[in-house]
Parts: sequence; C-alpha cells; structure tokens
Amino acid sequence: MNDSPSKWTLAQKRERHFYETRAASHEGRNEVYAEFHAPFWKAILNRLTELDFRDDGYYVDVGCGPNPIVAFVEHGNRIGVDPLMPFYQENFVLPEAFQPFEGTIEELTPIKDGQADVIFSMNNIDHIQNLDQAIATLRRKLRDDGFLVISVNVVGNPIAKLMAKAIDIYRVVDPTHTYHFHSPQEVRNRLAEHFDLVRYECIEQLSEEMQTRKNERDKQVKTLKGLVRQGLKFVKNDLILREKLHLFLFKPKSG
Ligand SMILES: C[S@@+](CC[C@H](N)C(=O)[O-])C[C@H]1O[C@@H](n2cnc3c(N)ncnc32)[C@H](O)[C@@H]1O
Repeated sequence: MNDSPSKWTLAQKRERHFYETRAASHEGRNEVYAEFHAPFWKAILNRLTELDFRDDGYYVDVGCGPNPIVAFVEHGNRIGVDPLMPFYQENFVLPEAFQPFEGTIEELTPIKDGQADVIFSMNNIDHIQNLDQAIATLRRKLRDDGFLVISVNVVGNPIAKLMAKAIDIYRVVDPTHTYHFHSPQEVRNRLAEHFDLVRYECIEQLSEEMQTRKNERDKQVKTLKGLVRQGLKFVKNDLILREKLHLFLFKPKSG
C-alpha cells in the first residue's frame, strides 16, 4: 500500500514510457489500437452476464488507457477517463465508440454523482495514487443499483508477500505499480466499506492467450532490447511475483 504522490509520479512516468514503446511499434498501422485486444475484452464482457447494457445507460471505463473495454459495450453512453488521455489521443488511434476525458479515479470529475450504471477499472487500481479516496469516489459516482467491475493482478508468491511486510521490495522489483494485492480476499477487504462482492474468478488463462497474441505480433520486430525486456519480465512475473489476473464484480452496499 502506498499513497505517496512521488511514487505515483514515477509509476506514471514508466507507464507513459511503456505506451510510448507500444505507440512506436504500432506506428504506421493506422488502426484502432484497442481492436487488437477485442477478443480479450469481449471474453470478459461475455462472462459478466449480470450486466445489462441500455441505450440510455452510462458506462464508464476509468484508467482505460488507449485500450478501453467500454468501446466494446454495444449500447449507451460510453466514457473513458485517464490521467494520460491527452497523450493517448495524440499517439494512438482511439475507438470512436467512446468519449475520452482526462481525469483520475480519485476525482472522476467527468461523471456526476449517482450517474454511472457500470464502472470498469481494468488493470488500474494497482496504478493509482490513493485507493481509499478512489473507492469512496467510485461509490459516489455509481447508481445504487450499479455495478463495479475490477480486473487486477494478485501476487501469488507467498515469499514476496512476507518480504513486503518487512521491506518495500516492490519499489525495486515493480515500481510501475503503486499497490500490490496478495489475495482476492485482500481486494475484497479493501472495498468492503462501500461494496459487496458479487463474485470473482481468476482470468489468468485469458490474459495468457492475449499475451500469446502479442508475442506472435511482436515476433517480426524483435530487437536485443526487446529480448532483454522480455527476460526481465519473466524474472519479475514468473519467478518473483507470480501474478495472476483476477476479475471482480462488486455492487454498492445497500443502506
Ligand atoms: C495498465 S494501464 C491499463 C489500461 C487499460 N485499462 C487496459 O487494461 O489495457 C493503467 C492505466 O491506469 C491509469 N492510471 C494511473 N493512475 C490513475 C489514476 N489515479 N486514476 C485513473 N487512472 C489512472 C494509467 O494512466 C494507465 O492508463
């Protein structure tokens, strides 16, 4: 857990760098960046059978990056919010099916209180500045009968969890993320003041299928730097953290 702005600033610098690299390898293709991820997002939306999308509904994707899941929702007002939005607008072809806004999950200013039917926060709550503030804001912006969808990595290595209790290993091993969760229960507990868990599932297999697609695509542009990056990623993800992606569906607490 870390609410320090300097940690967030550093994490966002790295995030921007990551997307600069993605933009450079995508340059010239002149295609909507999010389209490549369509099978991943559609598989997730298909799993969320509790959600019912209406033409007059408000569907918000916070921390959407250049790759909003909400663009694959077929009805309603589809809105994406991200602090790096001007950078994404400048460097990527974004889908036309959503309205992009610059903003943060802690404030969510483009959305009125009680306006959102569904808020998506995909691969996002471990990148933000202040989780407690974000959770209170998400609750305020959602309708009482709305839904919150979260996907987030959960660190699976018990040694990483033990070490993190003693020292801030993540500052060294994984400075791109401002928060780390060590079990689905921990995610549930962090939200428990304002949200009830409807259900969760591990969607690591979907994530791996997406990674295979990315690896296939990137084969042609393999450089030494790319190989080193892939090696470091293996050490971080598969040896040190052993993260797995989980999908959570929450409802606002009643009363
Ligand atoms: C890993 S990307 C996820 C992008 C997209 N949702 C996806 O799954 O491909 C994390 C995103 O969270 C955004 N982010 C970081 N801090 C944030 C904050 N305080 N509020 C909202 N979004 C934030 C970053 O700018 C980045 O676009």
